[in-house]
Amino acid sequence: MNMGVLGTGMVGRAIAGKLASNGHDVKMGSRDPEAALARTEPGNDGTMLADWKAANRDVAIVPFAAAADHAKIIFNATSGSGAMDALVSAGEQNLAGKVLINVSNPLDFSKGMPPSLFVSNTDSLAEQIQQRFPEAKVVESLNTVNAAIMVHPSAVADGDHTMFLCGNDDDARSTVALLLNEEFGWRNVLDLGDLTAARALEMYVPLWVRLFATLGNPMFSVKVVS
Ligand SMILES: NC(=O)c1ccc[n+]([C@@H]2O[C@H](COP(=O)([O-])OP(=O)(O)OC[C@H]3O[C@@H](n4cnc5c(N)ncnc54)[C@H](OP(=O)(O)O)[C@@H]3O)[C@@H](O)[C@H]2O)c1
Repeated sequence: MNMGVLGTGMVGRAIAGKLASNGHDVKMGSRDPEAALARTEPGNDGTMLADWKAANRDVAIVPFAAAADHAKIIFNATSGSGAMDALVSAGEQNLAGKVLINVSNPLDFSKGMPPSLFVSNTDSLAEQIQQRFPEAKVVESLNTVNAAIMVHPSAVADGDHTMFLCGNDDDARSTVALLLNEEFGWRNVLDLGDLTAARALEMYVPLWVRLFATLGNPMFSVKVVS
């Protein structure tokens, strides 16, 4: 299937690389592919984009609009503060009618670490995206774990932990639940219903940051038991 992954950071790389290795035709979106590939500083996964690209030759790095136009399913893996601009660049017409999986968190680093959220409680980044692009089928998921776990849940607890999703379109939520299972191996996907649940998923992130500081590594997740 044609897939679009907006974002060239560690999340975009993890998702695009996994989908390509599963045989999908993946285009990764960037503001400026040439500039992104020319950067000499490593990304937050410790590798340079050019090195990642050399190891993932089948993934094309293209402008946001070309990645969105190409895709049947789109992942938004851009920085929270840049997400709306990235999606505007992707083009409303290229998002319309498509499942748009939002992985982006509304993190505000302007006052240093730990980050705060620039939207919370009564609204969320996912809902703002849905409101700005009403014809896209926004589903929030994967934002509660580290990039490595997103596409390899068995990396912790033998995969026996919980991934959440939410969104306003029933079929889109079902599509994403199936994709998480079949493409990435998630066995325990919990559907939280409509997109207002994204407030809770995004407000979990400050706890994630605190757990990261306490545990000293990002390889953890949560499991819902009852
Ligand atoms: N890192 C994780 O493990 C993790 C886990 C869960 C959720 N998340 C969320 O996933 C998202 C991606 O995280 P990341 O660590 O992979 O990368 P990131 O550094 O947060 O984002 C990189 C991407 O954002 C784009 N970008 C940055 N500023 C922009 C702007 N002003 N306008 C348009 N695009 C802009 C960059 O475009 P260029 O390609 O042009 O540079 C790049 O593609 C974030 O929202 C993060 O909160 C991350």
